[in-house]
Amino acid sequence: MSKPSELLLNNRLWAAKIKQQNPDFFTQLSQQQSPEYLWIGCADSRVPANQIIDMLPGRVFVHRNIANVVVHTDFNCLSVIQYAVEVLKIKNIIVCGHYGCGGIRAALENQSHGLIDNWLGHIRDIYRYHQDKFAGIEDDGKKHDLLCELNVIEQVANVCNTTIVQNAWREGQELSVHGWIYRLDDGILQDLKVTAAGG
Ligand code: CO
Repeated sequence: MSKPSELLLNNRLWAAKIKQQNPDFFTQLSQQQSPEYLWIGCADSRVPANQIIDMLPGRVFVHRNIANVVVHTDFNCLSVIQYAVEVLKIKNIIVCGHYGCGGIRAALENQSHGLIDNWLGHIRDIYRYHQDKFAGIEDDGKKHDLLCELNVIEQVANVCNTTIVQNAWREGQELSVHGWIYRLDDGILQDLKVTAAGG
């Protein structure tokens, strides 16, 4: 296990490596940020936004929570979306889920996990809305995969239905919302092809 002091050392080496490639990298970035993407993903340590799309600091604005949920009353997530759309004028929002998601797995279980059950209630709602789609599936793994995908699709719809995105589209702002899913065992992202665009 790495000690915190080792992390600080890693950071020095990382910053030096970047500066070696581009001496002005940090000074330029410190002036302003103009990321091209807003990433809404799971907090899972195995799905780090910048790394899996191979992007350096400055390119992606990121919001992560357990199971990449977009709740209409979550001012944290809504504030991120508002800043990204209205101030940074980001043109692409990516909602990224992943197979093997612990949050989705917990939502499918009949077991208590404490406070987090309130958050996972949003996922259980999705299961209930789409119950017919699960009716013929016996395999738990397949059920899990399907709920991971449906969750992304549902969260894309939730992003689109925010007043922020609705207003942006009404005003003709170029903005697309995408739904992607990541596979932990091969590191590959799939486009679920539910892109919504307006403007
Ligand atoms: Co997850």
